[in-house]
Amino acid sequence: MVNTEFILVAPFTQLLTHFRFLLTLRSQEGLSHSLIIFRLSTPDSSNADQLYAMESTCPHLGADLSNAEIEELETGIVAVCPWHRYDFDLRTGKSDTGLKACTYDIQVRPGSSDGIDHAWIETPEGGTNWHVVELRPVSEEFADPPPHLPVEAGADTTRPQDDDESVVPKLNPPTTLMEWAVLILNTSNPTLKVDRTKHAVQLFHNGQLTVIGNEPPHHPPEPPTVPARDDAYTQNTVDPRKLTKRKNAAVMLHALANIEQWAIDLAWDIMARFGPSHPSLPPAFFYDFTKMALDESKHFSLLVSRLSHISPTTPYGTLPVHTSLWDSALSTSSSLLGRLAIIHLVHEARGLDVNPGTIARFARAKDDDSVKALEVIHQDEVTHVTTGHRWFTWICEREGKDAIKTFREEVKKGWRGEVRGPFNVEAREKAGMTKEFYEDLRGELGLEKDLNADTEVDDRKEKQPQKETTKNHEANIEVAYETAG
Ligand code: FES
Ligand SMILES: [Fe+2]
Ligand SMILES: [Fe+2]
Repeated sequence: MVNTEFILVAPFTQLLTHFRFLLTLRSQEGLSHSLIIFRLSTPDSSNADQLYAMESTCPHLGADLSNAEIEELETGIVAVCPWHRYDFDLRTGKSDTGLKACTYDIQVRPGSSDGIDHAWIETPEGGTNWHVVELRPVSEEFADPPPHLPVEAGADTTRPQDDDESVVPKLNPPTTLMEWAVLILNTSNPTLKVDRTKHAVQLFHNGQLTVIGNEPPHHPPEPPTVPARDDAYTQNTVDPRKLTKRKNAAVMLHALANIEQWAIDLAWDIMARFGPSHPSLPPAFFYDFTKMALDESKHFSLLVSRLSHISPTTPYGTLPVHTSLWDSALSTSSSLLGRLAIIHLVHEARGLDVNPGTIARFARAKDDDSVKALEVIHQDEVTHVTTGHRWFTWICEREGKDAIKTFREEVKKGWRGEVRGPFNVEAREKAGMTKEFYEDLRGELGLEKDLNADTEVDDRKEKQPQKETTKNHEANIEVAYETAG
């Protein structure tokens, strides 16, 4: 069926900054599509024939096509999927395998009033009132952290916790994605964790590691209850409530880097913990979460690098850290829906609310490089909430559940206290989290236990201790993501 409806994407000049863009479209009914725009022209060209748009997910097994290689064949230009090397014609989507990628017509048209060229794209089939939610360049900014993160004076700077410090262990190197996940969770040194994440994700995305290994005949290893940490990085672990009085930029960057280190583990943990018990999860699930692990490693590296620039005397590991993000991982370790809801759609979504304030604070201090790093992080975090939303709704659909109702039930079970605003409605919306998901929502985790305990201790005090505990918990969560203090 030929679809003749087009919507405006952006002024053409906006597409000259990069060669690939991720375009998210959403319909009035809430349907969404992620597309990749490939631009094959040189920056000074305005040749519309060299813009191509294709659904971002490979029709074979769901790899992300933003890393696809572009090749020119006699028959046309193709995108080669990194996983199994199937190629898809950029214009027609056809491949020799018989599979067909979904492509979209994209045109450059002069504006009727100003004559400025604009890119327009054909809308997907089904749905009405399609609009552009997001257009972002596909780029890989990755600050390399200092080769050895310095830790507190007197601490052992070698990596004593790891028997084998090489990125690929010499003894029993991982052969499946599940084995890499568990190895990385057990890797205590943050630099090595980042290096192994980069390596494993590159193997997986480039098609050099094709075995996920979450199903028989593989025997996926068990993930640790709590990921490993070098003593040198945890000796300063403190009660998060004591961290609420944050003052300076170094303390903030350190706290943010700590969150990112846990976030790397959270991305690997969801794959290692739930992959084996959910064999129906498609490869695209693992693709999304490996991408998330890579992003979190990038965030950690960017922040550690900024920290070492602005405060060489307080490198990562020298300031107090907290572990409260992992509390939510533990409380959701037996439910994939619970994990997606609490970690990715409550915690990570809260990150979207507070990031603009943090960025503004660094902007006021004229720390442009930190602002740039935090902006990259914020853009990525929107996609993490998108990932959480995508898989939460995917599971709900398969189980015949209403996603909004189920999300609210999961939050009631797995969250304690109010889901707090003010909300970044726009960023949440980009990720698919409309207000119906989170408005007027309160978690009841531990409420019953607290009330029972209160009754046992002193009937007259009844609500007071529960209120206090809830408040403390909320403070912890604020600290987990609201590092601006
Ligand atoms: S060729 Fe793309 S996932 Fe297999
Ligand atoms: Fe992050
Ligand atoms: Fe994230």
